[in-house]
Amino acid sequence: MRSRYFVFLASLAVLLFAVVELQAQSPAVVTIHADHTASRVSPTLYGLMTEEINHSYEGGLYAELVRNDTFRSDWSGINDWILVERGASSAKISVDKTTGPSEALPYSLHLDVSEASASGPAGVLNGGFWGIPLHPNTSYRASFYAKEDSPDTGVVTASLVADQTGKVLASSVVSGIGTDWKQYTFTLKTGAMEPSKENHLVLTVAHAGGLWLQLVTLFPPTYHDRANGTRVDLMDKLAAMHPQFLRFPGGNYLEGDHLKDWYDWKKTIGPLVDRPGHPSPWNYWSTDQFGLLEFFEWCEDLHMDPVLAVYAGYSLAQEHVNPGADLEPYVQAALDEIEYATGSIDTKWGAQRAKDGHAAPFHITYVEIGNEDQFDRSGSYGERYAQFYKAIKAKYPELQLIATAPITTMKPDVQDDHYYVRATDFFHDATHYDKTDRNGPKIFVGEWATREGAPTPNMGAALGDAAWMTGLERNSDIIVMASYAPLLVNISPGAMQWDTDLIGYDALRSYGSPSYYAQVMFGSYIGDVKPESAMEGGGSRFFYSVTESSAKKQIYLKLVNGSSDAQVVDIKVSGAKLAATGKLISLTAHDPEETNTIEQPKAIAPMESTLSGVAATIHHRVPPYSIEVLVLDQQ
Ligand code: AHR
Repeated sequence: MRSRYFVFLASLAVLLFAVVELQAQSPAVVTIHADHTASRVSPTLYGLMTEEINHSYEGGLYAELVRNDTFRSDWSGINDWILVERGASSAKISVDKTTGPSEALPYSLHLDVSEASASGPAGVLNGGFWGIPLHPNTSYRASFYAKEDSPDTGVVTASLVADQTGKVLASSVVSGIGTDWKQYTFTLKTGAMEPSKENHLVLTVAHAGGLWLQLVTLFPPTYHDRANGTRVDLMDKLAAMHPQFLRFPGGNYLEGDHLKDWYDWKKTIGPLVDRPGHPSPWNYWSTDQFGLLEFFEWCEDLHMDPVLAVYAGYSLAQEHVNPGADLEPYVQAALDEIEYATGSIDTKWGAQRAKDGHAAPFHITYVEIGNEDQFDRSGSYGERYAQFYKAIKAKYPELQLIATAPITTMKPDVQDDHYYVRATDFFHDATHYDKTDRNGPKIFVGEWATREGAPTPNMGAALGDAAWMTGLERNSDIIVMASYAPLLVNISPGAMQWDTDLIGYDALRSYGSPSYYAQVMFGSYIGDVKPESAMEGGGSRFFYSVTESSAKKQIYLKLVNGSSDAQVVDIKVSGAKLAATGKLISLTAHDPEETNTIEQPKAIAPMESTLSGVAATIHHRVPPYSIEVLVLDQQ
């Protein structure tokens, strides 16, 4: 009797649950014909877009730890450097514009010491990019260019010091500094310590006299041990996205505010001491120590295709170069740039690349002509694009040339579209490319993001992103590439210019936003073909995409539920014999505002579980605010 009562109650509960779900969101049916290919998935669909913004490179991906290593100054003095006078020492610092180690850096910091001793040294201090991150038992490679006013002024002591205790964590002595400019290299090695970013670098002397310094560098171990390399934790996070390409160097960073500020790539290559740097449109100086070759090496490290953007004669303050003779030097600079990247070492610029340390040419498929040229109110872009197109195709007919705005002068190979919107916009616009003319240019969605959450997007944004990505996958017969932007943000006070960025970090730690994890999920399970499929029913904020990997014999079904209600879905698969169990990767939150932070980096992170009960029809329930990938193995 008792058990019959429980059976009755249980049935009632199931019925109630079903009714509640029915009321909440109408059930969906997704039908997949695994043996009927609708189209191919672009092999380069997901990639990265970056530029120097939010301290993406300097104070970010670029591993250099010294801030303002070339002693730029303003009304407040030499930025980021402080005079050190210990004990009875006495000294002054200034910028000496009459002497420097190179034509590119013709000035230097002058330390003028009137009194100093071993117990009371004088010198300068640098606090890094919001701290200098140090780890135990680690070697840091350091260098500077220096000269002294007399050969016996004595040694320079370099130390890494804890901010709070003054404890010296690593120290090295540089001797033999002469009266001519020369580079000195040395190593600073820490011992046992807690990892920390509350540290600074100190360079001191113990004698009176003059010391000039320029280009002070300090590097931790880098990704793939590159000498002028990148930060390991950030590269690991990028690698997990499985990016197929890298669009660089911008963005607005390519254009500059004014014509004179364009990304003049020839000034970003070669020894660091020969790079003058330039002002970036994001309101801070770029040393260009992370320059053109470093972008290509970044591609090499993560196996990404370079998508090289060349400056096309438009800068942000409505300044443009007239098509025709005026534009020719910029067209030539682009041709040289392509030769630098792809030319054999028998070519002028290929030889330069070899001299710079990379003899093997890089492979390029896409070159982008400018950035967001729809903002050029002169209307000159159609002609500027055509001029670049003619010259580049004449020498490199195999290259695909991307236009940054719709043009009427000709049909470009590829057109770059940008979207910065709210989640609700992407929910409504996920079908954006479903009706796009298949005879028009291919599409590169070169910048897109759901802008909700700061400094990094929240779960609501991730849901908007994921809904949008189902549309990108469905239309990847014409969408050849797509990249979220911006990619990186240093979250330290004052470092950010643009909120809602995929990956956040300070000097020591980093974390991925929910949107980052959505990218990881979509990029990890992409496959090569799109089978025929359809969906009926489902709520207005429920989205799906289905792709297959021929090599792995797997079906990837992505489901996005942007609603506060669960979504019930029947998945019907024909044309494939499925294994009884599959895999479910799920990203879910209680509320769209829920997010990750540097303190709680994995509050929202993908969870992996076994998907049981896989059959020709799979009954499945997608929780509220969830992004899921179902991996179905074919036998
Ligand atoms: O991603 C930030 C900026 O947005 C890019 O520099 C620019 O291309 C766009 O307007």
